[in-house]
Amino acid sequence: MLFKKRKIAEEMDMSNIPQHIGIIMDGNGRWAKKRGLPRSAGHRAGAETLKKIVVYCNKIGVKSVTAYAFSTENWNRPKAEVDALMELLYMYLGQVEEQFAGTNVILRVIGDRSALSDKINKAIDYAESYTSTNTGLVLNVALNYGGRDEICRAAQLAAKAVETGEIKAEDIDEEYMSKLMYTKDVPELDLIIRPSGEVRLSNFLLWQAAYAEFWFDSINWPDFSEKDMQRAVLDYQKRNRRFGKV
Ligand code: FPP
Repeated sequence: MLFKKRKIAEEMDMSNIPQHIGIIMDGNGRWAKKRGLPRSAGHRAGAETLKKIVVYCNKIGVKSVTAYAFSTENWNRPKAEVDALMELLYMYLGQVEEQFAGTNVILRVIGDRSALSDKINKAIDYAESYTSTNTGLVLNVALNYGGRDEICRAAQLAAKAVETGEIKAEDIDEEYMSKLMYTKDVPELDLIIRPSGEVRLSNFLLWQAAYAEFWFDSINWPDFSEKDMQRAVLDYQKRNRRFGKV
C-alpha cells in the first residue's frame, strides 16, 4: 500500500501541476448517513478534509484552491442544517491560526457577503487579515457564492463604469470581465473536482470553468485523501488541453 502511494506520487509531473483547482465538496450528507450520524457531522468531516487537501496542494505547488462551501441556493436547506453550516464556518474562520498554522496559506472568502451575519463577516475579516501576509497557496472559500450571481455582479460593475464614463461599452471584453470576477488575483482555473458521483457544476465558477478540465469520482468528500488528489492530478496531466486550437 505504502509502495503504491509512493509510486503514484512519483508519477506526477511536477512541472505540470494544475495552478488553480476548484473543488465541489459533495457527499458530506451521504458520508454521515452511512455512519448513522447527523448531516452536520459530515460537514465537520468535510471541513477537516479540506484543510488536509489544501495543505497537500500547497506542498505540490498548486497556487490556488477554490472550495464550494455554501452556494446561493443552499439557503433552501432546512434551517437547522444552514445554522450548523454557518456555525462550522464561523469556527473554521475563527480558528484560522490553528487550522493553518505554519502552512503559509492565504485564506479569502468569495461570494455575496451582504446576506451573511455580522458575526460571520467579522470572522471573515479576521481570517483574511490574519493570513494576508502569507505567501503560499490562496484558499478561496466560496460562501453564499453562485456563478450566475458573480457574473451579474461583474456586469453591474461594468455597467457602472460605462455610466460614469470611465470606459466605453466596447471596452467590455473577456479580459475586462475577468478582472471583475472574485478570482481576478489567482491563476486561471485548470481543474474542477467533484466527488460523490454527481456530474454537474451546480452554479460553481461558471465564468472560470470555460477551459477547465473536470474530474468526477464516486468517493464522498470526507473520504477524499491525498491519494485521490494524486489520481485527479495524474488524470489531468493526461489531458490534451487545446483551448480551442487543433
Ligand atoms: C455538499 O454536500 C456540501 C455542502 C453544501 C457544504 C460543504 C461544506 C463543508 C465541507 C464544510 C464547511 C466548509 C468550510 C470551509 C469550513 P451535501 O451536504 O449536499 O452532501 P449529500 O449530497 O451527500 O447530501
